Amino acid sequence: MPRTNRHDTSFGSSYARAGPRMDARGATEHRRRLVEAAYGVVVEIGAGYGATFPHYPAAVTGVLALEPDPTLRGLALAAARTAPVPVTVEEGVAESVPTADASVDVVVSSLVLCSVADQSVALAEVLRVLRPGGLLLFYEHVRSAHRVFAAAEDLVTPLWSRMAGGCHPNRDTVAMIAGAGLTVRAMERFGFSVLPGNPRLAHVLGVASKS
Ligand SMILES: C[S@@+](CC[C@H](N)C(=O)[O-])C[C@H]1O[C@@H](n2cnc3c(N)ncnc32)[C@H](O)[C@@H]1O
Repeated sequence: MPRTNRHDTSFGSSYARAGPRMDARGATEHRRRLVEAAYGVVVEIGAGYGATFPHYPAAVTGVLALEPDPTLRGLALAAARTAPVPVTVEEGVAESVPTADASVDVVVSSLVLCSVADQSVALAEVLRVLRPGGLLLFYEHVRSAHRVFAAAEDLVTPLWSRMAGGCHPNRDTVAMIAGAGLTVRAMERFGFSVLPGNPRLAHVLGVASKS
């Protein structure tokens, strides 16, 4: 069994309340842009309450959405019913994607690689399931480029991670994506404050491909 974070349902309930507020502050637009290049067979890891589902374009033939948290998965199942493309929601984690090698056109990760227990294992799975030329579409908050802010992120990570479902604000996720053997084709980096009063954390919206 892959090592995964403990999934405590209190995080799922809090995220289900906070997520729509974050969406209203701009995350909806980030999600729309995240999936606009999606096509064919898609796997979405850590789908949460299904906030990306309404944005999948018609070029997508089907989405397998994996979500470990039962509260969020229930909401994702409801969101799947009104999605514009067929979406199947299943219990599962990024570290163990239940699809064959080289069988997927696009993997979508929206605010998930901060929370997986082991990014190397999750990204190795992305590489395994993607067909050659397949895409990883990612929207993630990442380690600050400023030394002092990054040090502050290192400091708060142990406590924050316990309170926020395993989330690590200090991860250099883009370096991990490149280090896993994917080629980053396009990427935008920007600050985004997810809730009123929260600091603007560095976020990335990008596309990586498997050669
Ligand atoms: C911040 S939420 C983002 C949810 C959703 N993708 C979104 O954009 O709103 C993080 C999500 O990652 C999920 N998660 C945590 N560990 C995971 C893992 N190992 N594999 C897949 N998903 C995981 C959580 O249950 C949660 O749904």
